[in-house]
Amino acid sequence: MPIPKLDLSSERFLNPLQLIWADHERQFIIDRELRKLAHLGDIERIVELGELLFVFFTEDLLLHHQDEEIDLFRMLRFACRPKDRIGQVIEEIDRDHAAESYLMRIIVTDLKQALGGKKLQSPAFFFTNLHHFAKGQERHITWENEVVLPLASERLFPEDIEELGRNMAARRGIKCPISSAVISEKPTTLKKSLG
Ligand SMILES: [Fe+2]
Ligand SMILES: [Fe+2]
Repeated sequence: MPIPKLDLSSERFLNPLQLIWADHERQFIIDRELRKLAHLGDIERIVELGELLFVFFTEDLLLHHQDEEIDLFRMLRFACRPKDRIGQVIEEIDRDHAAESYLMRIIVTDLKQALGGKKLQSPAFFFTNLHHFAKGQERHITWENEVVLPLASERLFPEDIEELGRNMAARRGIKCPISSAVISEKPTTLKKSLG
């Protein structure tokens, strides 16, 4: 399956929760591909996807983690109610982010070797790391889609959503169109409107 690009046109930042969801959908596709390549030990396809994977690990995911850690989780801590137990949820996700970041650093080191035409010291180690990274990320994205984003759409204020979109756009050097009509999406419409 071809790996899609994430549509980062400026209007997308008016619905930042949708954009995070769409980013997760792309991450799922990449994770499935990584697990498949790890199972096959297919270094040729890894090299073929080289630039895309390199950007995914060194830019896309770093920005995504920042969107969540710096903005979304901060806003949720403020807006959620005690019964939401958002502190526990975020602690769990922070651990996942830390584990992913650790694996990403090791994977990128090997990826650079492979893209530079050099033999990997231990292909088995590389593919095991890819497999564990993808499995861990799939688990944590599911958790975010099922718990965090629906809660965000319930609890965040329109001003939060607007700020989230603005900050996500600024992080990518994109000017976000400001709209006073920004409305926090409800969970039912959040899933349906993703294409
Ligand atoms: Fe996350
Ligand atoms: Fe995420």
